[in-house]
Amino acid sequence: MRTRTAILNELRACGTWITGAAMGEALGVSRAAVSAHVRALRRAGYDIEAVRSRGYRFRAASEQLIAAEVHRLSKCQTMGQSTFVHHMSIHSTNASARELAEQGCPEGTLVVAEEQTEGKGRKGRDWASPPGTGIYATLALRPRLPLEDTPLLTLLSAVAAAEAIRAITTLRASIKWPNDILINGRKVAGILTEVSSDVDQVEFALIGMGLNVNTPAEDLPDRPIFPATSLAIEAGAPQPRAALLAKWLDLFEAEYTLLLQGKRHRLLERWKELANITGKHATIKRVHDSVSGTIEDIDADGALLLRTPDGTCVRILSGDVKFDD
Ligand code: BTN
Repeated sequence: MRTRTAILNELRACGTWITGAAMGEALGVSRAAVSAHVRALRRAGYDIEAVRSRGYRFRAASEQLIAAEVHRLSKCQTMGQSTFVHHMSIHSTNASARELAEQGCPEGTLVVAEEQTEGKGRKGRDWASPPGTGIYATLALRPRLPLEDTPLLTLLSAVAAAEAIRAITTLRASIKWPNDILINGRKVAGILTEVSSDVDQVEFALIGMGLNVNTPAEDLPDRPIFPATSLAIEAGAPQPRAALLAKWLDLFEAEYTLLLQGKRHRLLERWKELANITGKHATIKRVHDSVSGTIEDIDADGALLLRTPDGTCVRILSGDVKFDD
């Protein structure tokens, strides 16, 4: 276990004052090392009292999405484990993760930011990313998957996000194909998947997740035809960002492991349950045209299968869905 996480565990478990010497002895590090780690934890937003004659006392956890808080709550073996990068403010976690991936960062590298100044959405849209209220996170992956399977990573990420919201809050999140997470018909989260590949093999994939957790209404984008919301607005109370991020990582890792083993059945079934779109009439806006019809299914690659009025079955890999009923 990392020393900083171990120090936090000791402080939390003891519940009262503990000296630097006692903590150092318990963890096998020097008193000076304990003191340096506690200073770093305070800089990261932890409220830890320090009194010369008594030692340290834990008062409150950091509100920031830093490694120690997320690791405490996550069971992951890979996601966010070997490399966890936390920024107070960055242009975009996807852009930052791309730089790391191009430099050869390991599978499961996680970039998290408290604020994004140029948060990116799909199709060149921006993603409102005000400080300290949402989750802005990108995983860098090196999946051994054929290129045509990469849309499944988006579905996987959306399933993990919807299930994480359901597990940590009382809210019933659903999925709108391919990557929007909705609550009561309003968008609360989105996934931006970017893939770098050679001819048919994935070099790396970036899975960016933006989730409006405690975002107030005035900081959400004003899009009347496509309204946004946050978990706090829907629940009527603030929601725990670190627990939500840790749960998303846990669920992502479990489903990703199955996908790499060729087991995609459960993922597709779960996606269909959470999306509840089969049989609905919809119009899909693609880059150059729109197509309307009845949604029949998604196929094994995550493509939407739409039956048009003339009876043709159209396979759609990307687009914006608008339900007609
Ligand atoms: C969408 O629905 O359009 C996708 C939104 C994805 C936003 C996230 S926030 C973290 C990551 N970094 C980015 O710049 N974008 C994604």
